[in-house]
Amino acid sequence: MNVGILGTGQYLPTRVVTNKDLEKIVDTNDEWIRTRTGIEERRLAEDDIDTSDMAYHAALGALEEAAIDAADIDLILVATVTADTPFPSVACMVQERLGAMNAAAMDIGAACAGFMYGLITAKQFIETKAYKNVLVIGADKLSKIINWEDRSTCVLLGDGAGAAVVGEVTEGKGILSFELGANGSGGKDLYQNENDQLVMNGREVFKFAVRQMPESTVNVIKQLGYSKEDVDYLVPHQANIRIMDAARERLGISPDKMAATIRKYGNNSAASIPMALSESVKEGKIKDNDLIVLVGFGGGLTWGAVAMRWGK
Ligand code: ACO
Repeated sequence: MNVGILGTGQYLPTRVVTNKDLEKIVDTNDEWIRTRTGIEERRLAEDDIDTSDMAYHAALGALEEAAIDAADIDLILVATVTADTPFPSVACMVQERLGAMNAAAMDIGAACAGFMYGLITAKQFIETKAYKNVLVIGADKLSKIINWEDRSTCVLLGDGAGAAVVGEVTEGKGILSFELGANGSGGKDLYQNENDQLVMNGREVFKFAVRQMPESTVNVIKQLGYSKEDVDYLVPHQANIRIMDAARERLGISPDKMAATIRKYGNNSAASIPMALSESVKEGKIKDNDLIVLVGFGGGLTWGAVAMRWGK
């Protein structure tokens, strides 16, 4: 059986915060942020919008595009590190609002790689025929845990949500190969501290990411016996344009063949990949039968990649 993506959606907060706006809060400047990270602005959710609200709206878009009724969803997986509350899970909140009463629901914690973990988990349930349709969401309201006095992290992050309905697709399409990994000894480089604030050793995370993203990208292509030239489009986690470019350059593809929403949205943690995917599909940058690679990394440390043939 082939398992792929039947529809995607995203939610974007309306509040735009530019680099110039951040200059008023911390000792930074637009030029530093742009050249070191590729970010020009980010979206931050209003106070009355929490992670589950963003997840719900992204899910609505994915269900509509997939033309699937909420009642036909068998499982909801929400990748997040910023749940509204430790419990109930965001997945249960979304289930209730969607009226997806036939769905099991749980959250997944793999930080920025969470959507990749969700996608691969969905694939297993569908392949074993336990479930038919799985809704996978990446949603994070990072602004809740940003330390607004730490210029090395607050300039990088934004809020948002992306979603995908995962189900059976025709022979030859869908997820063709995957890789998931974790290295708990790197947990000290990216974590939430006792004050509930995000702490990051940027240089260590950069070193890890700039090695792991290209490696995972190439691994999922190699597993198929394909060569780099076969890849049509890359959707990397939107953490830093320099890290993304490292993966892109390993594949030898041009910048227009890579989703780069980081300029407008910054790093949206688990939401980055599904948001970039959804936007690329809607803009017609990903076409039927394209071979695409999704690849991400995050706190844990965690990472994951899939190669997939786009289409139903
Ligand atoms: N504005 C101006 N100067 C700054 C800023 C800022 N916002 N932040 C740091 N600096 C300064 C530093 O203090 C340092 O000054 P110094 O040389 O006087 O000590 C200088 O800039 C260089 O700092 P570096 O840390 O070496 O800068 P680097 O080029 O490594 O870029 C960055 C920093 C962007 C954080 C980079 O390390 C990076 O992208 N790391 C990976 C981040 C990432 O991918 N995180 C993903 C996970 S986030 C999550 O999970 C939600």
